[in-house]
Amino acid sequence: MKEKPCMDILEMLEKEEDCSQGDIVSLLRCDDPEVVEKLFTIADTKRKKYVGDGVHLRGLVEFSNFCRKNCFYCGLRKENKKLKRYRMSFEEIYALCERIARLGIRTIVLQSGEDTWYEAKTFAELIHRIKKLGVAVTLSLGEREPWEYALWRDAGADRYLLKQETFDRELFVHLHPDDDYDKRLECQKVLKDLGYQVGSGNMVGLPYQTCEALALDIKKFQEWDFDMIGIGPFIPHPDTPLGEHVMDPEAKCLLTLKVLALTRILTKNTNLPATTALGTLVPGGRERGLRCGANVLMPNFTPSPYRMQYTIYPGKICVQEAWGNCLPCMEKMVTKLGRTVATGFGDRVRNSS
Ligand code: 5AD
Ligand code: SF4
Ligand code: FES
Repeated sequence: MKEKPCMDILEMLEKEEDCSQGDIVSLLRCDDPEVVEKLFTIADTKRKKYVGDGVHLRGLVEFSNFCRKNCFYCGLRKENKKLKRYRMSFEEIYALCERIARLGIRTIVLQSGEDTWYEAKTFAELIHRIKKLGVAVTLSLGEREPWEYALWRDAGADRYLLKQETFDRELFVHLHPDDDYDKRLECQKVLKDLGYQVGSGNMVGLPYQTCEALALDIKKFQEWDFDMIGIGPFIPHPDTPLGEHVMDPEAKCLLTLKVLALTRILTKNTNLPATTALGTLVPGGRERGLRCGANVLMPNFTPSPYRMQYTIYPGKICVQEAWGNCLPCMEKMVTKLGRTVATGFGDRVRNSS
């Protein structure tokens, strides 16, 4: 079949007609600046239409960098013996959440490597206490048992982030020595059935990742109707098996922004962060993300010295900042873009169709 011209595909997207995986591939491959600019403009328009000008700030707490897994791309992988590991105590985490809630942050994201040291029941008690601070709680703890997800949901957890990283089955297998593609998706189903708002996401610019694979990610995001989707560039970490991978940062940034823009257009009202990885890849990366469909930022509230030890990838921005500094910095960023800091919890309203 003959490929449609990119401008025609954009027109379809503007009118909110659905497009095929092949159409998405054409747009991802296209480097005509006029097409790219128009794609970004449409994404920004749809962002305004479906989620408005408010940018939600999700306070990030990276409470442990221990991980039982060995994902090939990640600096927290178990086999990375160079990394100094830390675990915050339950008390330490709670005290930190109290401070964050006092700053007016409405969502706290509890994130760690896959660390089963935190026993499910005690963790549920922590969630229960944090919920009394009047915040939404997002968990990002990886794959756990259904009964654990259920326990935490009962304790009051609102959302769960579990990225698929790629929906290309073969690529997934190559990157994840410990994981099963279908099991990861099964977790998503369990989480959804438990009433969590669920988040997925991918990395862009992985070795051997094709535009077809990225287009598949976008179609799957749409099909699964996720509430949150984290899209970030892959940044090679020297102490991992993929440390040698090279790609021009600006090219990778553009590709990530295209994936972000298309995801906004096709998923309409999903919560999409302008990721820290995008801000690390190129200066002003998060600002560019916010103008291409993103409506969420994640200020880092992990205390020192832990923050610099949560090195998923190298050169992470904000790690040298004093505690709490990301908040005013982001408020300034948002205002400068003519947007506002959202005041609600930022739950997504599910599409009923
Ligand atoms: N570059 C960018 N993002 C990464 N992640 C892990 N390793 C990298 C990397 N090298 C992201 C993954 C994962 C989360 C823990 O961090 O998307 O979900
Ligand atoms: Fe562990 Fe997650 Fe990193 Fe994989 S991506 S090694 S599960 S922290
Ligand atoms: Fe972290 Fe600017 S957002 S210092």
